[in-house]
Amino acid sequence: MKAVRIAGPDRLIVDDVPEPQPGPGDVVVRVSAAGLNRADLLQRRGLYPPPPGVVADIPGLEFAGVVVSTNTATGPRVGERVFGLCAGGAQAEYVANPAVLVLPTPEGLSDVEAAAIPEAYVTAHDALVTQAELAAGQRVLVHAIASGVGLAALHVASLRGCPTFGTTRSAAKAQRVLSLGAAGVAGPDDFDQAIMAATNGEGVDVILDSVGGPYLERNLALLRERGRLVVLATMGGGQTNLSLSALVRKRLRILGTALRGRTVEEKAAALNACTRDVLPHFSTGRIRPVIDRTFPLAQAVQAYAYLEENRNVGKVVLTLADESFT
Ligand SMILES: NC(=O)c1ccc[n+]([C@@H]2O[C@H](COP(=O)([O-])OP(=O)(O)OC[C@H]3O[C@@H](n4cnc5c(N)ncnc54)[C@H](OP(=O)(O)O)[C@@H]3O)[C@@H](O)[C@H]2O)c1
Repeated sequence: MKAVRIAGPDRLIVDDVPEPQPGPGDVVVRVSAAGLNRADLLQRRGLYPPPPGVVADIPGLEFAGVVVSTNTATGPRVGERVFGLCAGGAQAEYVANPAVLVLPTPEGLSDVEAAAIPEAYVTAHDALVTQAELAAGQRVLVHAIASGVGLAALHVASLRGCPTFGTTRSAAKAQRVLSLGAAGVAGPDDFDQAIMAATNGEGVDVILDSVGGPYLERNLALLRERGRLVVLATMGGGQTNLSLSALVRKRLRILGTALRGRTVEEKAAALNACTRDVLPHFSTGRIRPVIDRTFPLAQAVQAYAYLEENRNVGKVVLTLADESFT
């Protein structure tokens, strides 16, 4: 089968590889769309290896397609349209994945849209709702809000009636995110002042951060009493000085989180929680995954470059349907 393959440090190719063999409890899906994530860029550079037991040279954390075989009596059936979350290997014509991480595609969604859901929405829901215990109406700040995870977080928070602010380094992205329903969007230099002013000096209850070190002090200053900061990544750097006094005085919590390395059971719990709260709203049309653009699998190298150049608002998705590789 054809697959995106990491053929060496920073060397990505579309290659012929053997089809995956399902283990106990797995289903095999013929993939028609596979989402791209920041983690794929790190994996290509050798910085984010998959957990043990997961195919190491084929990236891809999410997919949509049709079940072609099953190794379990429960879960989706052969011929069913599905989408799923995996620890690697999704950017290929076929993927074998635990059936508990594969769900029926919601009514009314295309495969491209379904493939854009799992990693971003499960991450956002787990961070905001499960870990930060976001309550209805609380204010949220999402850094890099125009990212796939950022816009999923905007949706998850908006479903709880939570005004959501964001940051981006691009004025054009700021306009787009405002049009998608953010309460306010600020740049990296003055986000603390801008959001403090927009909230009448009160600040926010929960911050979802993927930038890290350079934002920490200002994040803590922006949090209200008993606020929660969830750190997803450290794109801007992982080292910083932390003044503990704000933490103590305001009784703040700082939480770190990572989805990929969790056990299948832990991931299934996160997927199920997201499914319960978020999935029904895709079928009603209240929310819709934001797709920036698609690339055919054969143009995976260009797709990775597009993401790396920070050009996307929302998700970039690889498509495999009706593809000619000749
Ligand atoms: N912990 C977890 O389980 C988990 C799971 C999924 C994702 N994540 C993390 O969540 C973040 C978003 O992931 P994604 O796949 O949705 O990303 P994405 O769509 O590729 O978007 C990432 C955006 O981050 C901004 N950015 C990049 N470098 C930056 C820097 N040095 N400083 C500030 N902003 C920067 C850029 O937006 P602007 O142009 O708007 O600045 C870029 O478009 C990533 O950091 C990813 O690693 C963590």
